[in-house]
Amino acid sequence: MTSAPMRHTALELVAPGKGILAADESTPTMAKRLASIGVESTEPVRRGYREILFTTPGLAQHVSGVILFDETIRQASTDGRPFPHVLHEGGFLPGIKVDAGTKPLAGFPGEVVTAGLDGLRERFEEYVGLGARFAKWRAVIRVDDDRPTPTCIEANAHALARYAALAQEAGLVPVVEPEVLMDGTHTLDRCADVTAAVLRTVYDQLARHHVELEATLLKPNMVVAGKGCRTQPDDDTVARTTLEVLRRTVPAAVPGIVFLSGGMTDVQATSRLDALNRHSPQPWQLSFSFGRALQGPVLRAWAGDDANRSAAQQALLRRAALNGIARHGSYFPDMELEGPRSHDEGARTTG
Ligand code: 13P
Repeated sequence: MTSAPMRHTALELVAPGKGILAADESTPTMAKRLASIGVESTEPVRRGYREILFTTPGLAQHVSGVILFDETIRQASTDGRPFPHVLHEGGFLPGIKVDAGTKPLAGFPGEVVTAGLDGLRERFEEYVGLGARFAKWRAVIRVDDDRPTPTCIEANAHALARYAALAQEAGLVPVVEPEVLMDGTHTLDRCADVTAAVLRTVYDQLARHHVELEATLLKPNMVVAGKGCRTQPDDDTVARTTLEVLRRTVPAAVPGIVFLSGGMTDVQATSRLDALNRHSPQPWQLSFSFGRALQGPVLRAWAGDDANRSAAQQALLRRAALNGIARHGSYFPDMELEGPRSHDEGARTTG
């Protein structure tokens, strides 16, 4: 396929006021999420939970695309429609996580590299047939006094670029996700240095692999201090530091940056996204591709009981609407108490 449709898809995914719902937890990760609300993870339970997410009325006003896991892209709604069709009919672009998770990096204790390149061309072909329009691959970088090593950064950046080139060959927009973890005691400055080094290497590799940046999205961590660091920056410091790193490393040809939430609370993720957007304009759209920060409140409201279906959908709609407002830099903490108001035409919960 020519690149024009992919460029268009990338722009659609970061349309103003909208972001991505990451619902691509692997089966073991989903089991952990369900265990946190006392629910056993079975295939029908995972299917039913995902159906609640995907059929939330009004969600498409704030969510442009949904990332699925391999199991999920093959499942169907109660009325028998395959999930990719449910999403398409609901106004969402279906995406697919294609990495196979992390494996220990041989020779580098404590470091990991993402697996999943073997057979990826053929898998992409199948996912296109199932209705996917974009893809995701996550690299994981741990930080401590001695890590990450340059070899770990290079191995992960190389895999990201191989994946991105294959995704575009299949006509899918690659979401390139190098996540610098917030676990640890490292400072904000250390996270900034590591994130900059990772992004420089990633964009070098993407160029070497002839990846067309206009048809990609970047899914990075925000630059934050490690969870165990004694000094925690305020939201504006996080925003300024993150933007400084991104402006130095991410080419302006990239249409959008969709942050992961990566262990921040749902409110923190929204308020930091808002702080970032208060420094607009930037060369790229600044949006979200949140998993935990969108689904945390949904899981709590649902608690595995179908009687709570509507409450769970309200929780998702509300969180998505607040993130939609944060995309305009118009979010205020009071909205957490009141619910989103019509501060912004494009970000209303109802309309
Ligand atoms: P979190 O927002 O929970 O970090 O998940 C996003 C994601 O897709 C991680 O790969």
